[in-house]
Amino acid sequence: MPKDLTQIISDLVLDWENPKRIVFGRGQTKNLGSILNSYMQVKSAVIVTDENIEKAGILEKVTSSLNGTGIKTDIFKIPVHEPDMDTANNVANYAHSKGFDAVIGVGGGSAMDMGKLMAMMKTNPGKPLDYCALPPDALSEKVKNRPVPEILIPTTAGTGSEQSNALVFIENGYKTWITSNKLYATLALVDPENTFTTPPNATRSSGMDAMSHLLEGLVSSLHNPVSDGTIIEGVKLVYDYLPRSYNNGNDVEARTALSLASTMGGWVLSLPWINGPATIGHCLSEGFGPKLNIPHGLACGLMLPHVIDFNRNFIGERMKKVLIALEPNEDYFYFTTQEAIDVLIKKIVELLKAVEINPAVKYNTKESKDIFFSMIDYVLNERQYLYNLPAYNPRRLTKDNLTNLFEDIWEGKFTTNEF
Ligand SMILES: [Fe+2]
Repeated sequence: MPKDLTQIISDLVLDWENPKRIVFGRGQTKNLGSILNSYMQVKSAVIVTDENIEKAGILEKVTSSLNGTGIKTDIFKIPVHEPDMDTANNVANYAHSKGFDAVIGVGGGSAMDMGKLMAMMKTNPGKPLDYCALPPDALSEKVKNRPVPEILIPTTAGTGSEQSNALVFIENGYKTWITSNKLYATLALVDPENTFTTPPNATRSSGMDAMSHLLEGLVSSLHNPVSDGTIIEGVKLVYDYLPRSYNNGNDVEARTALSLASTMGGWVLSLPWINGPATIGHCLSEGFGPKLNIPHGLACGLMLPHVIDFNRNFIGERMKKVLIALEPNEDYFYFTTQEAIDVLIKKIVELLKAVEINPAVKYNTKESKDIFFSMIDYVLNERQYLYNLPAYNPRRLTKDNLTNLFEDIWEGKFTTNEF
């Protein structure tokens, strides 16, 4: 049985790192040059970004903030899709062949992750695959040398990559990753104004990614009060502000709140006892997302009500706290944990619908149910161990419960049929 909170606190051992410096606030991008000059002696930097960031005018904001600082810059653009092994190898080749002493990653999770990779491969030999979390030593530290300084500037609100110690790319149709505390940013600069041009689809996808980082962190068997407080406040921010941000990209309050929630979710991601978050949500969505051509955040959002439903017998008290935070309705105090979970699942499904996401996976892909179901044995026999689910996901996986879960995910069905 999972531990209760008293046992969790009694057995608590905490040991974690964060980005060295985090700057949050509207308009902070214009201070990048002065921060770099006063904070780290950068002479030349490569900016890792993509075409869309340039078109949105954000790259120009970054380069003009460096005018007059004496910092020489080069631009490395990655393709506008989730990075694959070709992109990762191109980054590594660039890092090994060019001279620079810092990296500035500007963009969504893909550009920031490839920025981390650029910084890491500058000081480490070989290929990105040499450092990936792959069996049989998926959890071992493989990054030997500290990367050159990394500055990460998100342009979406959700991935939290600027806060995390991991980078992700697609290998053989599935997501793989490199994780090391050496990957933490030297400076994470979160300027909500850089998200104002994020289109609605990316806004809802990255917003649901943030929601998943937060809520999966609370579902995790290794949740504890340090993370729980941040998670509950962050969940409330996404719940209240994602629909507003989706419907009106110029809603300054909503965009800023969502950037803050993303930062909080990223912080939760970086906490080693959450480790990922390594519950069934990201484990499955990072598997079926690439297979079904569903973007990462959208796949995570589709999984989220199922994460709670699947684990419902083990997480009731903390989910009730979330429900009361979302809606301080006195009646909820008297609900059983199962009743509270029913209402919470309903609220998350309503959130998906509020940003025009159909909660059934089958309506979000052109791929077949057979392709989706072909993953069941792989998840049961291999993938769950890659994510160390027995340590992090409260409910154990069996062939039967996983098959039922796949059916529910495909159809958008939940244990409660009230909605
Ligand atoms: Fe994520």
